[in-house]
Amino acid sequence: MELTANLVPLADLVGTWTGQGTGEYPTIEPFGYHEEITFAFVGKPFLVYSQRTRGMDGAPLHMETGYLRHTGAGHLEFVLAQPTGQAELAEGNLVASDDGLVLELTARVWSASTAKDVSASRRTYRLVGDTLSSSFDMAAVGQPMARHLTSELVRSA
Ligand code: HEM
Repeated sequence: MELTANLVPLADLVGTWTGQGTGEYPTIEPFGYHEEITFAFVGKPFLVYSQRTRGMDGAPLHMETGYLRHTGAGHLEFVLAQPTGQAELAEGNLVASDDGLVLELTARVWSASTAKDVSASRRTYRLVGDTLSSSFDMAAVGQPMARHLTSELVRSA
């Protein structure tokens, strides 16, 4: 299936990526995790995103889903749903260079009434060759913006 024209700059991102990450936050103990993410083209002018993680012991951990749109001229919109009761509306930039792709997004976040409060987040995806590195920062539970996640994934066959 041929990508819609707006998604051509994101072509190298399409596929499934697996690897490991580390988590931290000022209020929690650091942890490691296994991660698998997919950016899928479904014939529409957006990519369908899904992520699943497992703890180092193999037990299911966080997962999330979303939709990524490139609306032109490097502008990105990424809508994400969190099973922990938050919704993220992220916007940012796609920068393509000889080295690869960098996606930088900042989100407004809404938290359900019983969910932990997350007020803003920042995501970066850096694709160089077949390695996809990501980071996630958040302002949550009364803390200023701080690193929560860093991962390094490789393209899955
Ligand atoms: C790779 C994805 C993620 C993993 C593996 C992960 C894992 C964890 C773990 C193990 C904890 C500590 C124990 C706990 O409170 O459950 C935690 C805390 C937390 N995470 Fe994540 N998380 C992920 C993504 C996210 C995202 C996307 C958000 C926000 C939208 C988020 C928000 C939080 C919050 C608010 C806490 C609680 C901090 C506290 O209570 O002090 N996490 N996460």
